[in-house]
Amino acid sequence: MKSGFLKAPFCVGLTGGIGCGKSTVAELFAGHGAGIIDTDAISRRLTQSGGDAITSIRAAFGDDYITAEGSLDRTRMRQQIFADADAKRRLERILHPLILQQARQQLDRLQDRRYVIIAVPLLPESPAFRQLIQRILVVDCAESTQIARVITRSRMSEAEVRSIIAQQTPREQRLRIADDVIHNEAGLDSLAEQVAALHRSYSAMQSSI
Ligand SMILES: Nc1ncnc2c1ncn2[C@@H]1O[C@H](COP(=O)(O)OP(=O)(O)OP(=O)(O)O)[C@@H](O)[C@H]1O
Ligand SMILES: [Mg+2]
Repeated sequence: MKSGFLKAPFCVGLTGGIGCGKSTVAELFAGHGAGIIDTDAISRRLTQSGGDAITSIRAAFGDDYITAEGSLDRTRMRQQIFADADAKRRLERILHPLILQQARQQLDRLQDRRYVIIAVPLLPESPAFRQLIQRILVVDCAESTQIARVITRSRMSEAEVRSIIAQQTPREQRLRIADDVIHNEAGLDSLAEQVAALHRSYSAMQSSI
């Protein structure tokens, strides 16, 4: 390494509504050798038994929101968040700084990559994550496609998927912040072609950090 100077790799924030194809796209980028940071996975680790967020969540919400095993009671918290926007904000104030910190640590370990994809489902509503990234990539598809794919994947009801979509940033608003858009309406071949084209352009881009 040159004189202790670490150059941050070029970072792309990957976002999109539920079931639009973020995880599938991240896997395709990983196949091209991109570094991948998954903020959903970080969040799950922070809230599992012994996770770094548990003490703060217990202090802010009470023992009722922690299971007997010591992890976040996700069902209970989800119900609370649906009923109370302030609870959502309080949980985010605990989780987001921790997620950001861990994403930075992972980024430090990905210095050798040409670029890094950071999957952040909440990117449109969480400006803090924009500090980490130079570009926003949105995976987009029609709402009817989102619903069909999520129902097939998880046996959620249509009403449940619709209520999650209603809580997320509207599609038009998400597209407005995009530097690049992947249209995930056709099959996986079309998806792979779009990822390959973006891989070529991201490989040529330089970090401005
Ligand atoms: N182009 C495609 N053709 C067919 N199936 C697809 C396509 N893209 C994604 N899928 C499928 O749709 C489902 C949702 O995709 P994926 O899990 O990648 O979305 P996601 O945005 O990560 O969802 P979440 O918001 O729940 O994390 C998966 O079962 C995936 O295999
Ligand atoms: Mg996913």
